[in-house]
Amino acid sequence: MSEFILETRGLTKEFKGFVAVSSVDLKVRTGHIHALIGPNGAGKTTVFNLLTKFLPPTSGSILFDGKDISREAPAVTARRGMVRSFQISATFPNLTVLENVRIGLQRRLGTEFHFWRSAKSLDALNGEAMALLEAVDLTQFADTVTAEMPYGRKRALEIATTLALEPRMMLLDEPTQGMGGEDIARVVELIRKVSVNRSILMVEHNLSVVANLCDRITVLTRGSVLAEGSYAEVSKNPKVLEAYVGSDDIADAHH
Ligand SMILES: Nc1ncnc2c1ncn2[C@@H]1O[C@H](COP(=O)(O)OP(=O)(O)OP(=O)(O)O)[C@@H](O)[C@H]1O
Ligand SMILES: [Mg+2]
Repeated sequence: MSEFILETRGLTKEFKGFVAVSSVDLKVRTGHIHALIGPNGAGKTTVFNLLTKFLPPTSGSILFDGKDISREAPAVTARRGMVRSFQISATFPNLTVLENVRIGLQRRLGTEFHFWRSAKSLDALNGEAMALLEAVDLTQFADTVTAEMPYGRKRALEIATTLALEPRMMLLDEPTQGMGGEDIARVVELIRKVSVNRSILMVEHNLSVVANLCDRITVLTRGSVLAEGSYAEVSKNPKVLEAYVGSDDIADAHH
């Protein structure tokens, strides 16, 4: 296993001459929860889209577990074990929570088109799906139609469908977006739990979440890496404070 599960070298993305991601060197240590933060429009989601091959880079390279995966098809990269929550795992609103997780499991097994599967083999998947629901504390919602789930619980379902693919690395784009205190605390604990024996790269605007959860932080502004380090280091960095001007958030988040 490599020291760094994920590395980018000079990763660059231009949109019609506009440089959204500019020569980014990112290193995520194996086993870490790593945060990618920065103001709106900094290029965070574009980095995720490059990592998952949703977008081709203009230049630069991506290494996963030491292997150059830059030119690989998205499905191949996902199969290597780098999966973005709600990339593959977009949930079907009219199916139950259990059915959604079961579809995730079928995807892992590569049998999603085998509609002829016997009831018995589906039952076997049910057991595994229930175990995943238990892991994300959604047992009570197993038979709930997904559209009727409380908002704060939907992220947990997305994480469960991602876990069904047994990823070595999970990419989470704003996992606490739109949530209030209690739901945020629950998602933070869930991420901590699922981070055991895997690596996580997450985009997160809530800086107290970052301070509490993340081992390492990369700050992106206008497409470029501004700073990298622990929360304590990054939050003291004058360049970072300047980028977050008008918000005292970055210094206050660490309580
Ligand atoms: N497909 C595209 N075509 C043109 N410009 C784009 C495209 N995607 C993103 N951009 C631009 O690239 C820049 C970076 O966008 P991106 O969505 O990566 O930022 P972000 O850091 O995720 O922001 P936010 O915090 O608001 O989610 C923005 O200026 C955006 O307008
Ligand atoms: Mg974004």
